[in-house]
Amino acid sequence: MERKTRAAILGATGYSGAELCVLLARHSHAEIVSVFSSGKKDVRPVPFARLHPLLGRAAGPDAEPFSQGRLDASRPDVVFLATPNETSAEVAPKILDSGAKVIDISGAFRLRDAADYPKWYGFEHPAPGLLAEAVYGLTEWCGEELAGARLVANPGCYPTSVLLALKPLLALLAPGEAVVCDSKSGVSGAGKKSDVAYSFSELDGNFKAYGVGVHRHEPEMRQELGLSHEAPFVFVPHLLPVVRGILTTLHVTFRAGVGAADVAAAFARYDGQPFVRVRPAGELPELRDVVGTPRADIGFALLPGGRGVLVSVIDNLLKGAASQAVQNMNRVFGHPETEGLS
Ligand SMILES: NC(=O)c1ccc[n+]([C@@H]2O[C@H](COP(=O)([O-])OP(=O)(O)OC[C@H]3O[C@@H](n4cnc5c(N)ncnc54)[C@H](OP(=O)(O)O)[C@@H]3O)[C@@H](O)[C@H]2O)c1
Repeated sequence: MERKTRAAILGATGYSGAELCVLLARHSHAEIVSVFSSGKKDVRPVPFARLHPLLGRAAGPDAEPFSQGRLDASRPDVVFLATPNETSAEVAPKILDSGAKVIDISGAFRLRDAADYPKWYGFEHPAPGLLAEAVYGLTEWCGEELAGARLVANPGCYPTSVLLALKPLLALLAPGEAVVCDSKSGVSGAGKKSDVAYSFSELDGNFKAYGVGVHRHEPEMRQELGLSHEAPFVFVPHLLPVVRGILTTLHVTFRAGVGAADVAAAFARYDGQPFVRVRPAGELPELRDVVGTPRADIGFALLPGGRGVLVSVIDNLLKGAASQAVQNMNRVFGHPETEGLS
């Protein structure tokens, strides 16, 4: 009989942790052995089926207040961390010491340089030695390093939408010209915290930019694009009055002579990839094309003067978090990449 991959989820009472419960509950080669909340608000266990409406009557362990002892007792092969950055940074080393692998959905292991953490995340990194080991899990851009990896840093939601569209085209861009990323996210991107900025009366019928020049996803994108802090790269996040989904509009300038056929040829690297769909020139995707799916959709249009517009859409809680984490688990443990996701 097959031995299934034993998965635990920290942060299962949060938005992305609950999505993980749904995906892993229907995974043929994994079983959920324990799920945890912070225990700060509700010390009583939360029944598994109540973690997400899509769980219906699915059977699974109750979400208990997190304790390292209870986690270890469930003998997981892999622990998903859908927790705040500082929590992930603190617990990941202990989990790795116990012999389990870690797939972290937070930003705790995404940046290579520990010196960036106080500036962008507001804390000294407690385990800087693990930053070099963590595999940055933008799945379509990972090779053999994912197979058997101990620690996967799942990419941020905005970076997933930007990097999937931009990375294939880097060699086609005019050197020195600015790349402008206008990204708009649904409110679930901020998690379930209560803050007046995310309240219904502030958001309904409203639309705003925020975090210009100070958003922590900016250094992550520069790192993964190989750009210095000074390179002309502009990232403007916006808050959309919808619950889920990210639409990124990228403004780029191509080298002289680059045409639609060159752009299409560069995007052909995604041919055969199950979770990235590139549209023909001029056909632009919308949020509703991907919300509720584990897929990124990308479109592009060329304008006179070598300018180009790329549009990239994802569900922030799926390709931007939980489904990409499961895609990574599949690659780490050698399961079919689409298992639990299609
Ligand atoms: N939301 C997104 O679109 C998205 C996308 C990509 C990555 N991320 C990242 O994924 C992580 C989770 O995000 P989210 O939006 O799902 O957050 P969330 O909805 O706010 O949920 C956070 C979860 O972490 C638990 N938690 C909080 N403090 C804890 C502690 N000290 N120990 C153990 N558990 C603790 C919470 O438990 P309680 O229910 O008990 O409070 C809850 O289950 C964050 O690092 C976020 O940056 C989020």
